[in-house]
Amino acid sequence: MEPERVTSASAPGKVILFGEHAVVYGEPSLSLALDRRIHVQARRAQTTSVNGEPLDPQRHAYIDRAIDLASDHGAVALTTRSELPSSGGVGSSAALSVAVVAAVGSLSGRVVGPEGIARRAFEAEYATQGSASPNDTSVAAAGGAVLLAPALRADQEFLWRIGKGERAWAVHRVHLPELPLVVVNTGSRSRTTEQVARVRRFIERNAFGRDVIAEIGRVTMEGVEALKDGDLRRTGSLMTRNHELLHMLGVDSPQLSRLCDLARRVPGTYGAKLTGAGGGGSLIVLTEDRDAVLAAVAKEGVTSFAAKASRTGVEVTG
Ligand code: PMV
Repeated sequence: MEPERVTSASAPGKVILFGEHAVVYGEPSLSLALDRRIHVQARRAQTTSVNGEPLDPQRHAYIDRAIDLASDHGAVALTTRSELPSSGGVGSSAALSVAVVAAVGSLSGRVVGPEGIARRAFEAEYATQGSASPNDTSVAAAGGAVLLAPALRADQEFLWRIGKGERAWAVHRVHLPELPLVVVNTGSRSRTTEQVARVRRFIERNAFGRDVIAEIGRVTMEGVEALKDGDLRRTGSLMTRNHELLHMLGVDSPQLSRLCDLARRVPGTYGAKLTGAGGGGSLIVLTEDRDAVLAAVAKEGVTSFAAKASRTGVEVTG
């Protein structure tokens, strides 16, 4: 008898340094893959299951769609393990979609390479959320620092282009120095679908909302320049500006805003902003004194860690 084939894949979480929400409307975004990952194992089975339980299309919406887009439609048993906080902001759903597409695709002999995986995982995210940019799934597939832009940028390393409807995003790799960042996870659950829908309603009704989106795009490109110049002070104040613009879009929360203020008051801090969909989830702090920031937020009952970037995108074994 042939030994049972098991495939394994993993993909990193991420932080968005600049540009969340605006990237859904074609503005640029800059993100960094983290050294915390989601691991998935896949093997053939009689019925599809996740961690020993039958797949529930509602509870396991991302997984369900990712399997559909990657498999040859045979049933699979999946085991998942996450090193990421699940309450949002650090790309756990994208890392999961990417790792599932990679593990199941490999089992079916269908999906090859980070670009093919990124495309299918984006389709899974888009179908689940009703709207999305390919930001999170591209970062989870590519690893490192990734810039999405509405058109190809000659000054950056081009990776791939992903389109949806009338929009297209050119995905680039950016070479950044190690950044002294702290991630603070509020523990308050953030639902990306709801936050994206909230911003859509706001900008459909308000020309001001559309101006805010465009301004986030400008701040993002200034941020890319500041990082290229190694100017952390400017990068931090642009991050803080980005947070204010997200606040105007309605995706801040009293807790996020209080924690950002607290972190900004720590000597050595350059700036702080929410990261990801907002409304809860996480914030990032750019600071020379990570220990002092970690100590300052420790009293607030949140989970925080010194972020380490990772160049490793999706990995498939077997
Ligand atoms: O909170 P997260 O990790 O799901 O990030 C969402 C990022 C958004 O820009 C709000 C949505 C998107 O698809 O780009």
